[in-house]
Amino acid sequence: ADIQHFDEIDSTNNYAKKIANEGCAHGTVVVAEKQTTGRGRIGRQWQSDTSEGIWFSIVLRPEMKPEDLQVITLAASVAVVEAIEETLGIVCGIKWPNDIIIDGKKLGGILTELSAEPGHVNYVVVGIGINANQDLEHFDYEIRQKAISLKMCKGETVSRSNLLGSILTNFEEVYKGVLLGKNKEIIDRWTKYSVTIGKEVKIAYRNMEYIGTAQSVASDGRLIVQCKDGVTREISAGEIQVR
Ligand code: BTN
Repeated sequence: ADIQHFDEIDSTNNYAKKIANEGCAHGTVVVAEKQTTGRGRIGRQWQSDTSEGIWFSIVLRPEMKPEDLQVITLAASVAVVEAIEETLGIVCGIKWPNDIIIDGKKLGGILTELSAEPGHVNYVVVGIGINANQDLEHFDYEIRQKAISLKMCKGETVSRSNLLGSILTNFEEVYKGVLLGKNKEIIDRWTKYSVTIGKEVKIAYRNMEYIGTAQSVASDGRLIVQCKDGVTREISAGEIQVR
């Protein structure tokens, strides 16, 4: 596959979207040592001004309906946690929809962005960020209480290239699973690592707020929440806050 490597870039997701718009091939990977304006979900920043992390984006051109895409993001988090377990022996948790967690702290995250029309997907960019070799002092003061790296966990520097290779291999496998409709198998693997199922969650939805217990993930990737008002709701990513 085509892998484009940068010493420094604004955001691998921005660049991936640019080349996707220009027609780059399915499976193109953009990796950067440092990002100057790394982005997180819901408009947040993502601190990635150091070559001690793993920052990359994958361009996909899936032949599927836009509403079926959510499983791809869940599949990406499965690829990440399984790769970390296989290469480093560290077992992470996944917080809905795709925060990678160790000891309640954030190790990494996934930002999926897409271009689609009704019924047709132009492209999907799956952006993955993992804190690999940062020391605690490296993190900005505001996130120091909430962030963790693989090095902090393992007590030694980890190989970023081994882990990246393993994530890409795993992602290819789970992505093929999604195309073959093996959603249930992928969701079962996701659920094994989930730290959300069975927990209380708060959902912000159409100016309303609901509190409930996360029950399970449906085959389309939505989270099923038994709300305190007695109604069971199926929630898409972006609408939820896990307590
Ligand atoms: C989150 O948990 O909020 C998602 C974080 C995603 C960060 C990665 S790093 C590579 C890619 N480029 C970006 O600008 N963001 C993603």
